[in-house]
Amino acid sequence: MKIETIAIHAGNHNDESTKAVIQPITLSTTFVREADGSFPAGYIYSRSSNPNRTQLENVLAKLENGIDAAAFSSGNAAGMTVFQSLKPGTHVICPDDMYHGLRNQLKNLFAGILEFDFIDVNDETVLQDHIKGNTGLIWLETPSNPLLKITDIKKVVGIAKNKNIKVAVDNTFATPVCQQPLALGADLVMHSSTKYFGGHSDLMGGALITPEKSDWWAKIRQIQEMGGAVPSPMDCYFITRSIKTLPYRIKGHVHNAQLLAEYLEKHPKIESVMHPGLLSHPQYEIAKQQMLYFGGMLSFCIKGGSDDAKKVVNKLKLFTQATSLGGVETLIEHRASVEGPDTKTPHNLLRVSVGLEHIDDLIADMEQALSQA
Ligand SMILES: Cc1ncc(COP(=O)(O)O)c(C=O)c1O
Repeated sequence: MKIETIAIHAGNHNDESTKAVIQPITLSTTFVREADGSFPAGYIYSRSSNPNRTQLENVLAKLENGIDAAAFSSGNAAGMTVFQSLKPGTHVICPDDMYHGLRNQLKNLFAGILEFDFIDVNDETVLQDHIKGNTGLIWLETPSNPLLKITDIKKVVGIAKNKNIKVAVDNTFATPVCQQPLALGADLVMHSSTKYFGGHSDLMGGALITPEKSDWWAKIRQIQEMGGAVPSPMDCYFITRSIKTLPYRIKGHVHNAQLLAEYLEKHPKIESVMHPGLLSHPQYEIAKQQMLYFGGMLSFCIKGGSDDAKKVVNKLKLFTQATSLGGVETLIEHRASVEGPDTKTPHNLLRVSVGLEHIDDLIADMEQALSQA
């Protein structure tokens, strides 16, 4: 089945008792134990599993071509589960341009428990030089946040497999519509469902998807169940509902992002534009090979400094100044301000989550803001 069909049908089921076409929301936290001690539907207590979570996990697994998925209450909870699943003392290799929330999690919560290096994972020599005897995981994020760097997933998997190292990919920016890391050999996919899966800036969630039921996956499931960082039945229901339109939303985001990137690249006040769909992107050829579409995110640097970048943001009327991404409305942010004092993000960089407004309106708004800045 194609992804548009999976998105609509894999998370839905008709309710037998009412014949409702869309599944009900099961709010009950607990389920009846039969006289013989059994639980006929397999549900016991909602932290362990819940019908709405099962439906969400079904569609997540199928979208990423995996065999199982685990849903979490946020992307950070999903990421933290991966780090918690590793044996203490494991060395983790991460990208130098990693989502700052997960980078900070490693630095603040896992210091003294795991070892980690933040490096240019796309540079084969640098990557090989950092692999140690206790390296257990390579974490990838491609396209990366906020520099839109592209990592060759197949190449990294090739290096890692030889040394028995697992590869996990944060696929939040791309979504399975644009990129399928498991098909490229990755061992695990991670998502912030808060972004494109939710798609309307009103839900928090996270996900992990596996291509096999391994001991590692069993540990991840155990942390999900015992830790309890799970989404509520309502959240599961609404994320499953949003996913039905994911493939068509993504096509709109991709279309608008490409046109906005091309417009910005030609503007005399712009120093550089970072979007994998531009021929000028340093890893354009890798992106073309491993991505089905180039995604809906872009960053650009204004000629000048922090104040010049902020001036542009403050002149925009349609673009909302806010963090996060993946919603139908266009968001823009001065990323260095969000990331805090130890950021390596250029101070003249603005990150845009390109929404689904008409592209002519977005370009007209950007044009008037740049002309006044
Ligand atoms: C690439 C990426 N990964 C993970 C996360 C964390 O997700 P959440 O905010 O749902 O915890 C984010 C959030 O911005 C993100 O952009």
